Amino acid sequence: MLKSIALFPILAVYSVSAQAAALPGDAASGKKLYDANCMACHNDSVYKRKDRQVKNLEGLTQQINSCGHVGDITIGKTQANDLVRYLNETYYKFK
Ligand code: HEC
Repeated sequence: MLKSIALFPILAVYSVSAQAAALPGDAASGKKLYDANCMACHNDSVYKRKDRQVKNLEGLTQQINSCGHVGDITIGKTQANDLVRYLNETYYKFK
């Protein structure tokens, strides 16, 4: 009984990192897309500020798509996934 209680936190950590790894997309390619397309209107201070607007992964995807529309950048599903992964790993760290 005691043994299984001691194991629980370890399992919890494993399942969180398994979830993060399950995010589709490629962060390296997201960074390239980002550097090429996303610096025109804002720098990374919008992801680091205290009152940032994006609160979860879904919101991040929506925001990236709407920034694409505003900036007239074509963002396909693969590119959106890459950008989400890059921004999440670098700034947001949503699970
Ligand atoms: C045409 C201008 C424009 C371009 C280009 C642009 N954005 Fe944005 N973006 C904005 C504006 C405006 C905001 C809102 C800033 C604010 O609320 O102060 C914003 C906000 C964001 C946020 C939300 C930050 C928060 O508060 O959490 C994310 C994420 C984001 N942009 C990602 C991107 C990505 C990724 C790209 C490249 C694909 C991109 N943006 C390109 C205009 C742009």
